[in-house]
Amino acid sequence: MPALVLLGAQWGDEGKGKATDLLGGSVDYVVRYQGGNNAGHTVVVGDQKYALHLLPSGILSPSCTPVIGNGVVVDPSVLLSELSGLNERGVDTSKLLISGNAHIITPYHVSMDKVAERFLGKRKIGTTGRGIGPTYADKINRVGIRVQDLYDESILTQKVEAALDVKNQMLTKLYNRRAIAADQVVEELLGYAEQLKPYVADTVLVLNQALEDDKVVLFEGGQGTLLDIDHGTYPFVTSSNPTAGGACTGAGVGPTKISRVIGILKAYTTRVGAGPFPTELFDEDGEALRRIGGERGVTTGRDRRCGWFDAVIARYATRVNGLTDFFLTKLDVLTGWEQIPVCVAYEIDGKRVEELPYSQSDFHHAKPIYETLPGWSEDITKAKSFSDLPKNAQNYVKALEEMSGAPISAIGVGPGRDETIEINSFL
Ligand code: GDP
Ligand code: IMO
Ligand code: MG
Repeated sequence: MPALVLLGAQWGDEGKGKATDLLGGSVDYVVRYQGGNNAGHTVVVGDQKYALHLLPSGILSPSCTPVIGNGVVVDPSVLLSELSGLNERGVDTSKLLISGNAHIITPYHVSMDKVAERFLGKRKIGTTGRGIGPTYADKINRVGIRVQDLYDESILTQKVEAALDVKNQMLTKLYNRRAIAADQVVEELLGYAEQLKPYVADTVLVLNQALEDDKVVLFEGGQGTLLDIDHGTYPFVTSSNPTAGGACTGAGVGPTKISRVIGILKAYTTRVGAGPFPTELFDEDGEALRRIGGERGVTTGRDRRCGWFDAVIARYATRVNGLTDFFLTKLDVLTGWEQIPVCVAYEIDGKRVEELPYSQSDFHHAKPIYETLPGWSEDITKAKSFSDLPKNAQNYVKALEEMSGAPISAIGVGPGRDETIEINSFL
């Protein structure tokens, strides 16, 4: 059985955690392939709510092996506290595997993230402040620290000293902060080594052998397509590749193994942090989406910016990820609107533009062109099949599907595992 990728089709927070958890019971491995604890995936199981940041959402399914791939950046203190938090709630986390090649977020990466944002002032990205960008920068600069380095004290010391040589110059001379002592960082990191050891594995080998043995492997993206470092709204993006190709590099699995790429798509749009967002609403509709949808960040507690559905973005996500399916989430949140506007194209400098402009300057002043679809007022949270939905809700879904370029194979009508309408099976 081949591999599936599940990723965000917008700016993150589309409901990836819920979708992954839903499939978790039927797959053998769930793999995070990029990002770190900037992610916040909420999973609701019965009356229990879990907020996962670094751990794959498959950790809640006992039959499934959760994997943190080489493309992820790992903050060991966050990882250990997330694990102990789950253990206290009775979740068995012993099957977790962590790639020895994953890079480590150290305290100096977190400091650099925060001071860099402060230094940018009005031009800030609005990062989560978790050290993500600086850790990936060090990885690319070849001065990063990897999980495997925790098991060689001499190498670890050399690497931390080398990294801090330059960073301390920046911290003290440019950012006017105190220098960070290398020996303290080394001591802290070594303190995590033994606790992490049972989980560290050659995850590339494990996953490829699993695929050869016909096991089902699900790759769970963090963030979303428009936050991708290459394909997103740069520079207002995260520092990794949440798009489908990231699953190959971030887990060491070839593209020929991937047979399905599922885009998680919210029935409207949200964004956290700075950057362009053509359909953003500043009126009572935006406020209502935020309130009804509970649109507040799981990681930083920031209110999410809210707006109508944007089909230009959905088409773009289909293209850059090669999406085979969509999982449309939060349709229930739209219940009660008489009319629902959907952005079908942009107006840029007086011209109608059907596809996402490659120029950021154009995207920054793109104005949405809306088509208005009739809404519905019936409660849809108990709907179990497509035909249970009111006609107007069915038509809304069909219209989105037509505009977005891939079949909508599942619909979320509530946060719970079973509040889902399955149209085409994913497995
Ligand atoms: P992720 O980062 O993509 O995993 O998404 P988040 O967990 O950050 O945000 C999605 C939020 O919507 C969470 O609070 C979910 O519990 C919730 N959610 C997911 N699917 C649905 C749905 O179909 N309906 C409703 N009402 N809530 C949903
Ligand atoms: P999930 O997995 C929404 C945003 C931040 C900021 C930008 C860069 O829950 O969908 P970073 O700390 O990554 O350098 O911040 O990316 N961002 C997210 N927005 N959901 C997320 O994750 C995000 N992870 C990062 O708000 O704008
Ligand atoms: Mg989230």
